[in-house]
Amino acid sequence: MSAGTDDERLERDRREQFVTDQVINSFAGTPDPRFQQLMESLVRHVHSFVRENRLTEAEWAQGIDFLTRCGHITTDRRQEFILLSDVLGVSMLTIAVNNPPASNATEATVFGPFFVADAPHVELGGDIAQGAAGSPCWVSGTVHGTDGRSIAGARLEVWEADQDGFYDVQYDDDRTAGRAHLFSDAEGSYRFWAVTPTPYPIPDDGPVGDLLTAGGRGPMRAPHLHFMVTAPGYRRLVTHIFVRGGDYQDSDVVFGVKESLLVDFIEHPAGTAAPDGSHPDRAWTSAHFDIILATEGESS
Ligand code: BEZ
Ligand code: FE
Repeated sequence: MSAGTDDERLERDRREQFVTDQVINSFAGTPDPRFQQLMESLVRHVHSFVRENRLTEAEWAQGIDFLTRCGHITTDRRQEFILLSDVLGVSMLTIAVNNPPASNATEATVFGPFFVADAPHVELGGDIAQGAAGSPCWVSGTVHGTDGRSIAGARLEVWEADQDGFYDVQYDDDRTAGRAHLFSDAEGSYRFWAVTPTPYPIPDDGPVGDLLTAGGRGPMRAPHLHFMVTAPGYRRLVTHIFVRGGDYQDSDVVFGVKESLLVDFIEHPAGTAAPDGSHPDRAWTSAHFDIILATEGESS
């Protein structure tokens, strides 16, 4: 719709700005200053979006319908709003804002919706697959601080999809598979069996999938294994290792890939000796990942 003459345009702008000012002023008495700052900024940006794009009422209704569908599909096992944040890059941007570069510390990446607290404990050298299908993968490495000191007793939470691209929480039964926690040893080393990561689609049978389709985007994640590493006095690290040379590295749907997190997954034929002395009866891979944790409060 054209705004017509200069006078009409000025009047239009005045009326639109009046709405924005009214809403911002309505938060003037907000007791929590941080909440007030966030609400003011949110209102300014959302209102600018509406104004700049001359949003139609039909488009506004479509947006409301989209968010409603996100709410309806969300359960304690399916979090469509996290998916939305992920595919819009908001998750990775929040990670960038909250994890400023700290010397040589391992980079963080997206958390994703498939972490489950209280995953089983496995001993060092144990198998986190617990029946998840896939080719075996020996994962090992160390945990250090940025000062080079090894960190004993660091807690590593690891989780991954099976070879068909499903996390255990997506199975029809209540099985736990492809996830566990373990602790680094006295030298800060860790090791475990897992399955070799393969690419998989994020859940795309809901509104976020529709958004990807409408945007001409695919739903695939580059193959990866999730880590969350904690130790007293150190900043919590949420990250992945990615299979170097794996598919979708340049088009990971949630923008999670970082060069520093690409790891060689070395292929070994069936029957060759693994570091734990076993001889897997099928082809297996091995990956090495040294983790460096920033000290709490550290940034460069
Ligand atoms: C994941 O890697 O588990 C994941 C991350 C973001 C969205 C969906 C899945
Ligand atoms: Fe994942």
